[in-house]
Amino acid sequence: MKKNNLRFDWDAYFTIPGGSSKIPSPASFGQIAKKKEKINWDACYEKKNIPWGLPHVHPELMQAVAEYPIRPCAALDIGCGSGLSSVWLARKGFKVTGVDISSSAIQMAEKRAEGVCRFHIADILEKDIPGAPFGFVFDIGCFHHNLHPSFVERVASHLEPGGLWFSLVRSADRSEEHEGPTMPIVPPKHIATDIVKIVEKYFEIHHLRASSYGIRTTSPAYVQPQNIGFSFWACLMCRRPRIR
Ligand SMILES: C[S@@+](CC[C@H](N)C(=O)[O-])C[C@H]1O[C@@H](n2cnc3c(N)ncnc32)[C@H](O)[C@@H]1O
Repeated sequence: MKKNNLRFDWDAYFTIPGGSSKIPSPASFGQIAKKKEKINWDACYEKKNIPWGLPHVHPELMQAVAEYPIRPCAALDIGCGSGLSSVWLARKGFKVTGVDISSSAIQMAEKRAEGVCRFHIADILEKDIPGAPFGFVFDIGCFHHNLHPSFVERVASHLEPGGLWFSLVRSADRSEEHEGPTMPIVPPKHIATDIVKIVEKYFEIHHLRASSYGIRTTSPAYVQPQNIGFSFWACLMCRRPRIR
């Protein structure tokens, strides 16, 4: 793959020892991702160093649910973190399951949910989540850490045909350098074609639009609304009945 400063370098990120052009199995991809990323999500949640944990549900998720409209069904929140979006959707009548690789995040989510959602500690790349097939899957900032065909395959395998997937992925366009609060984990940036290329086999794209994600901070660098946080792609996709 050609490299330039905007393209995400898949090869460097996911180099498979021994080399192979085949899509890795979910299990082997999980091992690769862990080895490459070495992200300690638990440490962030334990220290409450979670600047992505906004005080409100992301407006793009709210808009997607209202606009289509997505009817209450079994829903899966991948990388649910402290469960804000899961609980919001459950209170709208969805039967929500949240999954996160971090046990500390799941503890926080369970406390917040007071029983209105089900949560699992799991790596989505390695474990099947009980409750599938889901009618709606969403992730707020999880896919961009795992932007790979295997993640897409895992989402598709948890969705019923015709089911919807909403994802917020950090964009390489209008991409502000982050100068405000210390980000324990800076999300990788992606261009639209990187998303399109890997989701198309399983998903029809309903919309892919530019958005931004506020960061909770008192830094004066973020007082102007147009300068808040990161740029994101808000992507709503429909699982194809037949894989292409
Ligand atoms: C940027 S945080 C967003 C959390 C939450 N969606 C929110 O908006 O507050 C990404 C989350 O994805 C989780 N995560 C990352 N990789 C994962 C994986 N392979 N399986 C499950 N969860 C994962 C992390 O533990 C983290 O909680």
